Amino acid sequence: MSDKIQTLTGYFHEYGKSVTNPEEFWAKIADSFHWQKRWDKVVEWDFKGPNVKWFVNAKLNITENIFERNMYTLGDKPAIIWEPNDPKEQNQIITYKELFHRVNQFANAMKAQGVGKGDRVIIYMPMIPEAAVAMLACARIGAIHSVVFAGFSSSALADRINDCSAKMVLTSDGNFRGAKSIPVKPVVDEALEKTSTVEKVIVYQRTHENVSMKGGRDIWWHDAIDEVPDVCKAEEMDSEDMLFILYTSGSTGKPKGVVHTCGGYMVYTNYSFENVFQYSKGDVYWCTADVGWITGHSYIVYGPLLAGATTVMFEGVPTFPDAGRFWKIVDKYKVNQFYTAPTAIRALQAFGTDPVSPYKLDSLKVIGSVGEPINEEAWHWYHSHIGKGKCPLVDTWWQTETGGIMISPIAGITPTKPSYATLPLPGIQLVIVDGDGKELQGNSVEGNLCIKYPWPSMLRTTYGDHERCKQTYFSTFKNLYFTGDGVKRDEDGYYRILGRVDDVINVSGHRMGTAEVENAINEHPKVVESAVVGFPHDIKGQGIYAFVICDMEGRSEENLIAEIKETVNKIIGPIARPDHIQIVPGLPKTRSGKIMRRILRKIASKDTDNMGDISTLLNPEVVEAIKEGAKL
Ligand code: WTA
Repeated sequence: MSDKIQTLTGYFHEYGKSVTNPEEFWAKIADSFHWQKRWDKVVEWDFKGPNVKWFVNAKLNITENIFERNMYTLGDKPAIIWEPNDPKEQNQIITYKELFHRVNQFANAMKAQGVGKGDRVIIYMPMIPEAAVAMLACARIGAIHSVVFAGFSSSALADRINDCSAKMVLTSDGNFRGAKSIPVKPVVDEALEKTSTVEKVIVYQRTHENVSMKGGRDIWWHDAIDEVPDVCKAEEMDSEDMLFILYTSGSTGKPKGVVHTCGGYMVYTNYSFENVFQYSKGDVYWCTADVGWITGHSYIVYGPLLAGATTVMFEGVPTFPDAGRFWKIVDKYKVNQFYTAPTAIRALQAFGTDPVSPYKLDSLKVIGSVGEPINEEAWHWYHSHIGKGKCPLVDTWWQTETGGIMISPIAGITPTKPSYATLPLPGIQLVIVDGDGKELQGNSVEGNLCIKYPWPSMLRTTYGDHERCKQTYFSTFKNLYFTGDGVKRDEDGYYRILGRVDDVINVSGHRMGTAEVENAINEHPKVVESAVVGFPHDIKGQGIYAFVICDMEGRSEENLIAEIKETVNKIIGPIARPDHIQIVPGLPKTRSGKIMRRILRKIASKDTDNMGDISTLLNPEVVEAIKEGAKL
């Protein structure tokens, strides 16, 4: 890739160039990639449509840029180091050559099962190398992957399959997580009862549990790759062809399929990876995310592999067999860059420093954080005990929709400030607007975070519903992409993310729409109405608090609450399970019938001293009743 940012002056210089002449700036970076055909124009855009195209009419295949472009220099270098859940099981060190072989072979296997360019393929798999192989094999043949986090329930999986009319599902028999083995294939079987588009299911044998295999539909992974050739020509993709769809939650009930395309996503994930983490040749990099989230896509698979890095992939959980597992892995592979979520830091911080002290952690050069605001206490603990006070901590702000890191220190170059994501990456033009869309100029301002110019890895649409993309991101404020986050720009021009300003809550770094959880709760036959809000949670960042009106006839409160939690488990998955459910006699509503969430948020946060003006409510008396019964 082109030169990395080396100094703070260099950063400001690059940033300046990226604003005054974005086309020249990105063309120079894109030049270091392998294009089957060069672009006619760097960018074409309007945010009204929105219509955004990067590297217009260029042709490429992202896997050629991972493999063929670097094969002479990288062939024998580890691409993926896979650490299994159980430390006693054999790990895998997969070189670029070997990964290329597996990707080609599996790409041919998928083709043999009838999948081709443009078809949608669902990947519902544990954190095993085959999940990455599956993604790359799709990219090789131009199939569009949609990874669904393997903790989602069968009905959440079915919704996603139906939304994108997937033709194939790639999965495993089961999933090892900590001391447990979790069934995976049975969830797929259940989901497929509610869908009709899937023709084939390829199943990787991981746990060797007995699972049912449907004749004509289900094939074992090892059979599918048996006797297929291991040379597969890379499909020629237009820069704007879809690379993948990733479903994410928003303020409405239904998750939306965020669409990313080939050219821009490739350029930006590689660029941001190398700069933010200051990756140098030979470094071992580890991101602890799951491939089911955007962080896993951009910074376990695509960004690092495009850079020719060695990326560690970990199957297990941070506390198995004990709370020192992360640090043991860092020492074992001499990890240089370590990237995790604040929720993991807080969970491990709760164990104190005993689990950390046996490990040297002296290979670490950079530590990173992503997914939610990192509170100052966790920032300092991470910086002192893991980074030993010497590793720069990069607090990276971005979203599924942005595809790559948008605001972050450049490791070791941008001076950091605890809980600040600091400054935008080159090419990222931020604006802060007030509620009326008026731009707030200068420093020491606070408002809604928006972006006014396109960047290569931005979402292009929401699958099958462009109008929804327009309404959600491009209509709140004219000619701006609206992030949904509140932000402060301090006296030094540094950015601090304040959290979501819409009805999205962030539970352990996982985005959850309140409406989505309410819809799930409302599926319980005894539920009349519900309202869900977030509340501050020591480990998870935010927890889920549900206020529910129920028909209690013949039921105990305790049973009903347990049943409602189970309903949410079944409809979305354990990550959406409410921490608290309070059965209430009514919900505070405005005269027009709108639930006043502001009041519920205050009750759930134990902040009930000043409830503000409630006299305009339709039913002010319920506020007192809810307060008295608050489960705190
Ligand atoms: C939040 C994850 C504060 C934010 C990559 C955003 C953050 C949402 C940070 C996107 C951060 C992410 N500081 N908040 N460093 N990073 N967020 O789509 O609210 O899962 O809008 O993408 O997470 O979550 P998503």
